[in-house]
Amino acid sequence: MKKTWWKEAVVYQIYPRSFMDGNGDGIGDLPGITDRLDYLKYLGIDVIWLSPVYKSPNDDNGYDISDYQAIMDEFGTMEDFDALLNAAHERGIKIVMDLVVNHTSDEHKWFVESRKSTDNPYRDYYIWREGKGGGLPPNNWGSSFGGSAWEYDEETSMYYLHLFSRKQPDLNWDNPAVRDAVFAMMTWWCEKGIDGFRMDVISMISKTKEMPDGALNGLYGNGDPYCVNGPHIHDYLREMNEKVLSRYDIMTVGETPCVTPELAKQYAGEDTHELNMVFQFELVDAGGKYGKWTDEKIPLTLLKKILSRWQTELYGKAWNSLFWDNHDQPRAVSRFGDDRPAYRDVSAKMLATCLHMLQGTPYIYQGEELGMTNYPFKSPEDFRDIESVNAYKEWCTDGRLSHEQFWPCIIAKSRDNARTPMQWEDAPHAGFTTGDPWIAVNPNYKEINAKAETADETSVFHYYKKLIQLRKKYPVVVYGTYQLLLEDSEELYVYTRTLDQEELLVVCSFTDQETEVTIPAVFAGASCLIANRENTYDQETMRLQPYEAFVLYRKTEE
Ligand code: GLC
Ligand code: CA
Repeated sequence: MKKTWWKEAVVYQIYPRSFMDGNGDGIGDLPGITDRLDYLKYLGIDVIWLSPVYKSPNDDNGYDISDYQAIMDEFGTMEDFDALLNAAHERGIKIVMDLVVNHTSDEHKWFVESRKSTDNPYRDYYIWREGKGGGLPPNNWGSSFGGSAWEYDEETSMYYLHLFSRKQPDLNWDNPAVRDAVFAMMTWWCEKGIDGFRMDVISMISKTKEMPDGALNGLYGNGDPYCVNGPHIHDYLREMNEKVLSRYDIMTVGETPCVTPELAKQYAGEDTHELNMVFQFELVDAGGKYGKWTDEKIPLTLLKKILSRWQTELYGKAWNSLFWDNHDQPRAVSRFGDDRPAYRDVSAKMLATCLHMLQGTPYIYQGEELGMTNYPFKSPEDFRDIESVNAYKEWCTDGRLSHEQFWPCIIAKSRDNARTPMQWEDAPHAGFTTGDPWIAVNPNYKEINAKAETADETSVFHYYKKLIQLRKKYPVVVYGTYQLLLEDSEELYVYTRTLDQEELLVVCSFTDQETEVTIPAVFAGASCLIANRENTYDQETMRLQPYEAFVLYRKTEE
């Protein structure tokens, strides 16, 4: 297996709108991020993944871009961006940009032109089709944000495809001019000195030409088989690699919905010349009562099965990302741990242990290192996110489900859980802004905040810091093989990692009950590298407290 810096790195994701407000308008911005770089340096991360900061009308908080080479007004200027990049580099921190090129905003000049006439030079930059007649769209596909994936445009009496909101028309990657324009834009950013790209829904850029109806899934057809992992996806990524990526020492991570381990070996294979790693959703997409919406916890055996499959199948062949949450997911501790006051701290540390000792590049989503929790939503008016707002309407207002049925499911999974402001200190609005925050701050900021946690050596923050240091010190964390133990346990996740003469035993309790674990005999006398509770590690049978976690380390015989 090749050794590379991005396998050894830890990535920290910043959602700029909610990270730090530098000018008091209630919206996070670039100067705010620059101001907090020392905090990230202290945590010890290597790379920042910056969610989109480009010019955008904000229909989907910046994932709808109207100019790829300009900064969103609310976030600052290109000078602010350059200052951030320099300040990060001075501290040895790299910056990976979000590359959103499956679609643009409908306010991008390419689309403004495209919709003008069927013979406009930009017409073929997007995906236009005739309707089926009788006011019916070209096919039955639904958009991820509700409604049809097709929007009728009066100007030319045709429909355009938007797999996300109607303000996010899909680009036509089959058009070589589109590819060249995107590659030129990417090159421009690389020349500026950025350190890589996180590629938004990149597995969706190639669509089948025919675009048949999809199997009905609620009100609409599922277009996935025809627009995810499409016919030319690997050609386009190899072309991108050849023309742009291979010319720079950058990190690339593909957000790849619906990817299997088999496909990941192509997207992010050691020698396939596409991307460095995939960011896949098999675990976080598992389950779902009403579409993606559910309040059920995933059984631990299934969680282990999914994570283990990726560990084993990609080993030595391809590279994966490790994450519990991001800006599209609920908070890790609320979802996979236990956010009740007695267990929040300890279960957040347990989850961190479990994830950071696996193989893959770990991603920390802003606030996860503090053990930030889901937001206590009171009513649908609390939602800001287009997905939650539309989903509530689609599932409830039309009477398909009652509020009582749907409410627990939508608040458990709303993306807004991740988007409440970063909790900096016990000060008004958690120290995020001196103005009115664009989205409410979680009231638990008084207990959970960066100032308190950086000052407390026993905090979740310091635990993450220590995990990051272990990764730097022990190559087995990055390059070791993986073996799952106690496969059938619904309480314990136990695995080993092995590299040359080094071996780790990782023990994580996922239950609020006391349990017992038998330590494999070879680990007798091993040392404990990190633990979230007090215990003695020289016993064969150990009693474990709720959510206990620890890592044992030993050197094997020559
Ligand atoms: C990705 C982003 C998400 C966005 C969507 C459309 O999944 O992570 O936030 O809404 O793509 O760009
Ligand atoms: Ca601001």
